[in-house]
Amino acid sequence: MLLIKLIISTAFLFNGGCEGSLLHSDIRASVRALGRKHGQQHDRHAAIVASQCHYMLKHLHGGGQISVHMPPNIAGHWVSTSCEVRPGPEFITRSYLFHHNHTFQVLQFHYRDNRCSSPAYTILARGQLHLRQASWVVRGGTEADYQLHSVQVVFHSPEVARNLSQWLKPSCGAPSLVGGDLWEPWEPHISYDLWGEEEERGRDCARRLGFTMNELQLVRVEQRRHHGVRVPDDHTEELFLGDIHTERAQRTHHKPSSYQPPLQNTKNHERTCLICRVISRADQHHPPILPCEENLSVKLQGQWVSQRCEVRPGVLFLTRHFVFHNHNRTWEGHYWHYSDPVCRHPTFSLYARGHYSHAVLSTRVLGGTEFVFTVDHMRVTPMDQATTSLLNIFRGNECGAEGSWRQGLEQDVTPTHGCAALGIRLPHTEYELFRMDRDSADHLLLFNGQRPTDGSSPNQPHKTATSYQAPLVQCTGASQGPTDWGREADQLHRLGSSCCKQGERGGVLDVVKVLLIAAIPVLHLS
Ligand SMILES: *[C@@H]1O[C@H](CO)[C@@H](O)[C@H](O)[C@H]1NC(C)=O
Ligand SMILES: *[C@@H]1O[C@H](CO)[C@@H](O)[C@H](O)[C@H]1NC(C)=O
Ligand SMILES: *[C@@H]1O[C@H](CO)[C@@H](O)[C@H](O)[C@H]1NC(C)=O
Ligand SMILES: *[C@@H]1O[C@H](CO)[C@@H](O)[C@H](O)[C@H]1NC(C)=O
Repeated sequence: MLLIKLIISTAFLFNGGCEGSLLHSDIRASVRALGRKHGQQHDRHAAIVASQCHYMLKHLHGGGQISVHMPPNIAGHWVSTSCEVRPGPEFITRSYLFHHNHTFQVLQFHYRDNRCSSPAYTILARGQLHLRQASWVVRGGTEADYQLHSVQVVFHSPEVARNLSQWLKPSCGAPSLVGGDLWEPWEPHISYDLWGEEEERGRDCARRLGFTMNELQLVRVEQRRHHGVRVPDDHTEELFLGDIHTERAQRTHHKPSSYQPPLQNTKNHERTCLICRVISRADQHHPPILPCEENLSVKLQGQWVSQRCEVRPGVLFLTRHFVFHNHNRTWEGHYWHYSDPVCRHPTFSLYARGHYSHAVLSTRVLGGTEFVFTVDHMRVTPMDQATTSLLNIFRGNECGAEGSWRQGLEQDVTPTHGCAALGIRLPHTEYELFRMDRDSADHLLLFNGQRPTDGSSPNQPHKTATSYQAPLVQCTGASQGPTDWGREADQLHRLGSSCCKQGERGGVLDVVKVLLIAAIPVLHLS
């Protein structure tokens, strides 16, 4: 108990003060001391781990190390920090250049493999972008309009040219030299125009490849300060652009309601981001080739937490904490929901528990692993007045005892088979996709499937995701030796790095929105 108190009080101290670096070493020292003392006592170990995970989450709430400028300044060169997976799946990296005069040039590199080591084709698009007002759809985002001026494609091998020409009409390619209504076959290493402002034909060609730049309709820039460093300019800038619809057919007319993985500004990217450097130097004819590393097999065992305040389609902000027990195949999930983009104003929290199946390698998504999850137990805690009254308004015994909800008090909704007001029915089954990776600082990351954009639940095998949402970071491993403590101290160090709160102020809670959100299914298993 004493040990836990120590970590909590350190965390408390951390929140109050402002002398970053000094406190970091305190944290490191106390975590190391814990490591030495924790010995063989498993219960105590589990409790310490849980408090570490909570500690990491606590520092996400309120967006301590993040600052956001509105309207965002997006001028500059922005690149992917890893091989990204889009619904389909598509494996891509991106290199986007925005000029001060509102023109842009974007490169999307497509690959045949999940490591982005085998380039397939590259799309180069040019156009103009104008930022508009703050978004009504996603708080903290800015809306924008774009016009495309040109879209070009280059295939990097003859097979890819052949394969993709199945999607493209012959008339999208080059007219035959012999004339008439004949067209040249598609060739690799040639830049083809898929878009001409004057010709309808061209627009159709780009759409047939599923190409759209609707992601530019939603923009957010975050500055993340480096560990306790006070030097001006020593921060990382991240550009969040709109999400891609999980249904391919919906993609070209989808208006973004959340974000893709962020791009990083090349002017001050982390020195550790080698991938950023490779991508920033690439062009249409020389796509970046990322190292073909081994796939990590998915081992869920242990505890995992969000790395940032996450955004879900439908104005939901949340943080997550998962615990997986491999020996009896059970899991526990904590979900904290917020009304604001820096996760400062809680609305309600969920605790869910259930079982999961054995792992099966995905046949649809290279590098992915599938599991079947069930939820058979759930507890709900309303955290603000609006959610509390919502739960009390609902008639009948479909969400705990009727009219009995109190702000901050948890209720078990298992006996009422879930909570109708929150769109949760128990027992519930979901078909999940996972992958694992390491970040540049060697922390283990766990990715699980992106939720269907239409708000439905992946409750049938064919609805299993083909892309992923923001990763969770491991806050403890399966086997915990004393050496791991140093690494975890580093994590704490990273996450809790700045104590002076910056960034946006959360506004007043929009009651109507919360009621709406709560009325749609929000069983976010993931
Ligand atoms: C916008 O700025 C870029 C970079 O400075 C330049 O290459 C481009 O020609 C400019 N475009 C227009 C329309 O002014
Ligand atoms: C071409 O398409 C086939 C089937 O659609 C696929 O199996 C093959 O991997 C593709 N080849 C390339 C080079 O993309
Ligand atoms: C599974 O194991 C965990 C950790 O040992 C334990 O807390 C939980 O009660 C077990 N669940 C079941 C259903 O046995
Ligand atoms: C990763 O796994 C996929 C199958 O899921 C396989 O096709 C690919 O070759 C693997 N890559 C490496 C580098 O092991």
